[in-house]
Formats: sequence, structure tokens, C-alpha cells
Amino acid sequence: MKVYLNGQVVDAAAARVPVDDRGFLFADGVYEVARLYGGKPFLMDEHMARLRNGLGALQIDAELVAEIPGIAERLIAENGVDGDGTIYLQVTRGVAPRTHAFPTTAVRPTLYLTAKPFKGYPAEYMERGVACITVPDTRWSRCDIKSIALLPNVLANQAAHAAGGFEALFVRDGVVAEGSHANLFGVLDGTLVTYPRSNYILPGITRQLVLDMAAELGIPAEERPLYWDEFWRADELFLSGTTTEVMPIATVDGKQVAGGSRGPLTARLQEAYRSRAGI
Ligand code: PDD
Repeated sequence: MKVYLNGQVVDAAAARVPVDDRGFLFADGVYEVARLYGGKPFLMDEHMARLRNGLGALQIDAELVAEIPGIAERLIAENGVDGDGTIYLQVTRGVAPRTHAFPTTAVRPTLYLTAKPFKGYPAEYMERGVACITVPDTRWSRCDIKSIALLPNVLANQAAHAAGGFEALFVRDGVVAEGSHANLFGVLDGTLVTYPRSNYILPGITRQLVLDMAAELGIPAEERPLYWDEFWRADELFLSGTTTEVMPIATVDGKQVAGGSRGPLTARLQEAYRSRAGI
């Protein structure tokens, strides 16, 4: 597999990042994951806009963002990804001797991209739903930045997998906010509920797509906190994300939720998603 690193397309095994890269030393960078359907990037402009915001928050020059769609296209072709897949990319502040403060001399940001086949999760997950666990939200209070510092997400997701599940849902101050790698939606009395855009969740591209599709379908939606007790009595619960798409939740902490199967609004939104993605 070929990858892109700082201006070159090379074999993945040959790609090298210096140990002084601030991504390696400080997790000083941001990333994006975009989906490919039929070899074409899905919602790439939205991913690039979020990347620009993240780079802005980190005060990293966003000039390189303009090159990314072209690089992605090149990698897709080089790797022959003509079906479904993912683009992964990350930008770090670059290579400089280790000091917490930014380097005082101009440093070129490190840009890394991959394009790989990914055929999505098993149909069973999408039809029957997945198992989740709840965990305390131990993350920092800038969850809106798609930071490569993902240790709380990694530990939470590992705990979910160790329990035989798929996703861990972060709970902060009695509110179930989002998953370790996906946003969360509940359905209460026919209304979609999802955490508002704020510093406590990642503003998911798929989350916004779900809200747009809901508006189009005439499904009422509220961006507000989903409190612990409402969460447990929700009629439907589902995850949204670039790799998870629209995925029903069947159990939480080993208990059946939302009837234990995919609900009707979840199914409608899955259908709308497929039509948007052209699949
Ligand atoms: N994760 N919340 C978190 C914490 C995430 O990491 C993600 C995405 C989402 C969903 O956002 P989007 O719809 O833009 O993919 C929500 C990616 C896919 C990942 O880390 O692999």
C-alpha cells in the first residue's frame, strides 16, 4: 500500500517520521477520517472545513488543506481503491527540538495520508444493532478539536471490546454525550435528540448529515443533552460516524435498550444515508 508523507507517495513500510515530530512527542496535531464510496470521497468539503477549524485552534498554518483533495485522489488511484474505503489523514505541527511552546523558527507541518479499502461493518450490526457500554467522560474540555491525542477514546473503546461490545458512550455530569468514535442519537416520543455542538463533543460530519436528512424527512430533532434517565427510556438509540454510518444500539451495559432492535426512524435514516452516499 502506498501512503503520502510530506510531498511524497511511498510504500507504507518505507514512510518515516523523525522522532522529534511534535505529533510523536506531544500529540500536537489533528486528523480526519473520510469515507469513500465507489472510490469517491464522501462529504470531503465538510471534512476539510473541520480540519481547517482544528488547525486554526492549534494555530497551525492551514494552507496545505487546499492540496489534500488532490493528494487523496492520487492515492485512491495508486492503491486502486475503486470500491468502498477510507481516507485517513493527519497534520502535526512538524519536527522541532522538544519544547512545550511552539518552535520559534518556521517549521513545516507534517502531512500524512492513506487511502484504503473498507467495506463497512457487518450487515448484522446495521440491522440488529450493537452492544455499548457507558464510561465516565475522562476527556479534556476541547472534544470539538479532532485531536490525535485519543488516549481516553482508546481506553474507553478497548473497555467496550473487552466486554464483547462495539462502542463506549461517554457520560459527563449525568449526560450521555457521544461515543469514543461516533456521535449518539436518541429518539424520544418521535423526536431525535443529540448533544448540541459545543466543546464537549466532536461536531461529527455524519451527525450533521443525520440532522439534515431528518429535516428533509420531516423528523423533528432537538440538539440538547440526553440525560441519563431519558437515555434508558429512549425509543431508539443509534450511533453516527464516518465508519459507523447510522448504526443502531441494541444493548447498553448488558441491558436491552430501545426494544433491543433497530427502530423505525433509525431504519429510515439508514435508507436516507444510503441514498445520499449513492450506495
Ligand atoms: N471518529 N465523535 C468522536 C469522538 C469521533 O472520533 C468521531 C469520528 C465522531 C463521528 O464524527 P464523523 O461523523 O465526522 O466521523 C464522533 C473517526 C471516524 C475515527 O476516529 O476513526
